[in-house]
Amino acid sequence: MQAQKLDYTDEVAEATGEIYRRLGGQYTPEHWKTLAPYIYEINRLKKEKNAVILAHNYMTPDIFYGVGDITGDSLKLAQEAAKTDADIIIQCGVHFMAETSKILCPDKKVIIPDMEAGCSLAESITAEDIRALKAKHPGVPVVSYVNTSADVKAETDVCCTSSNAVKIVEALGREGHDTVIMTPDRFLAQNVAAQTNVNIIYWEGVCIVHERFTAGDVREIRKQHKGAVVLAHPECPPEVMEEADYAGSTSQMDNYIKKHQPETAVLMTECSMSDNIAASNPDVHMIGTCQLCPYMKRISLPKILKSLQTEGPEVRIDPDMAIRARRSVERMLELS
Ligand code: 13P
Ligand code: SF4
Repeated sequence: MQAQKLDYTDEVAEATGEIYRRLGGQYTPEHWKTLAPYIYEINRLKKEKNAVILAHNYMTPDIFYGVGDITGDSLKLAQEAAKTDADIIIQCGVHFMAETSKILCPDKKVIIPDMEAGCSLAESITAEDIRALKAKHPGVPVVSYVNTSADVKAETDVCCTSSNAVKIVEALGREGHDTVIMTPDRFLAQNVAAQTNVNIIYWEGVCIVHERFTAGDVREIRKQHKGAVVLAHPECPPEVMEEADYAGSTSQMDNYIKKHQPETAVLMTECSMSDNIAASNPDVHMIGTCQLCPYMKRISLPKILKSLQTEGPEVRIDPDMAIRARRSVERMLELS
């Protein structure tokens, strides 16, 4: 392949000027000149190839606002993947998200710009672990967080995300199950357990980003920033949820800020999300927590461009396993 020359031309400046203004000073003009040519070329190529870019809320603002066609939390990205008529899906997020898109769109080319973009939760449990849990608790349904691999989903009864976990567990309760197995996030399971009468047997997985937050952090933030509204992701430990003003998935936190426009807010979650919210809510003072997800941060504009040019690396799932995994994901979408 011929090496690409990416210059900051007048055409690039004009095509990306609006995005730069929207980002409200998050990048210096000099830095922008290095990003804009990628944004321009990615947007040109994705039209040419009928590709869609799904960008998670944790993507950096250059990706989120520059090239993302559909942005949101894990649930929204899965719902939109199921509906898209694009030929190619470029998943700007982590591997389990790309697998979920492939499970829902087996005939489409699903590409992740970096195959190493994993997740500590997804890596904490295997299909064999789920089979062992089922053998130990016969008849108890398994709810798995979408932050799991396709083979774990294939052994699961219903998937859930942070935005619908309580709803899914309660739905199983209404079906007559007084106990469910919830994997792999220990804190999500404990936080759901605090909101339902259904008993929850949980796995010991944790998110390496959210497990670091403590109740002491929240108290310290409140001391330093009087009146700050604290929002927490349900992957945080229960002690953090107890101290927070609001808990929700990444998109639910985003919606809360849009709706309530607090003077000052802090998100107990991945740091790029604060930057993205700050760009869309100029009247809200966002305090960053600087917790970065090393997996999410593997995705960059140069890698996205390369993945579009080469149409790879492609996410592939064994078709039989994909059919079984699809049942648990579709059941979640129905219950959502
Ligand atoms: P959301 O579904 O809330 O976007 O969470 C995904 C995730 O990986 C959070 O760490
Ligand atoms: Fe996984 Fe945590 Fe990163 Fe989300 S933030 S992708 S749960 S490691």
